[in-house]
Amino acid sequence: MKKILVTGACGQIGSELVVHLGKKFGKENVISSDIKRPASIIKEFSTFMYLNVLDTHMLAREVVENEIDTIFHMAAILSATGEQNPQFAYEVNMQGLMNVLEVARRKEVQKVITPSSIAVFGPDAPKEMTPEDTSLNPTTMYGVTKVAGEKLMQYYHLKYGLDTRSLRYPGIISSETLPGGGTTDFAVDMYIHAVLNQPYTCFVTEDTPLPFMYMPDAIRAILELAEAEEDKLTRRVYNVHAMRLTPADIVDSIRKYIPEFRCEYQPDYRQDIAESWPHSIDDSAARKDWGWLPQYNLDDMTRDMLDKLREKHQKKVVHL
Ligand code: SER
Repeated sequence: MKKILVTGACGQIGSELVVHLGKKFGKENVISSDIKRPASIIKEFSTFMYLNVLDTHMLAREVVENEIDTIFHMAAILSATGEQNPQFAYEVNMQGLMNVLEVARRKEVQKVITPSSIAVFGPDAPKEMTPEDTSLNPTTMYGVTKVAGEKLMQYYHLKYGLDTRSLRYPGIISSETLPGGGTTDFAVDMYIHAVLNQPYTCFVTEDTPLPFMYMPDAIRAILELAEAEEDKLTRRVYNVHAMRLTPADIVDSIRKYIPEFRCEYQPDYRQDIAESWPHSIDDSAARKDWGWLPQYNLDDMTRDMLDKLREKHQKKVVHL
């Protein structure tokens, strides 16, 4: 990895990934891109370009002009937003990935890394320790695009020898950039409300288990996968897991530090999405092949989240 392009660089994961890549590979070697206006930290650690992944000519131009050899394709519409406009989610997620893979193939990019999700699984997959190879019958458009995306990544590897790598992220909890339009966003919202001394109304029931991961682990996972020796990989798409949590688990953990935090529950359409997903996933292949090991448990994460959010709140940069 010498010259790296990150799409979706202003998103929840992209914005933190860019900072890590900039620190590790040098600002001059990281091109960040999005259709949103970047936070100043993104410009501190990378060169920012306005780029819509649906614009394949512009994408090709950036890859050629910057001699890109690695693409982290992070631009995507998430599950809840996707259900509000499934056709748009299809367009961004499918055409965006296809453009990235085609430009990579035609313009001699060596490696493409893109996240997949627990949303590839549907209600008929095993709920606990869900393995990689099981029924993939998602009931959201987001999940449909992630299954098809995984298959496209595998196809481009098989057919063209492109080094494609993907990991199925669980819900990601983070303090820096708000998640946008996901079903697992309630977890981040809880921490923000707690720090602002506000009660929270959660859109899934308190006993709905879902797999989660704290952002520092999520960033480490994607970087470790990207940098793993190719001959160690036994597959192109890996499950990664850290914590099985219900909303009540997160509330209990927050209350250890902020006892007055209150949460009530008013499930909406996102309850059905959450119920269609696994509770925990089996990531033994990632552990075996490239040494994946999550570091944060729930209380470690809660302490760190509350510290970081309090700091941001004091600087008045937490917006609801
Ligand atoms: N966090 C994502 C979502 O809720 C799952 O990949 O849509």
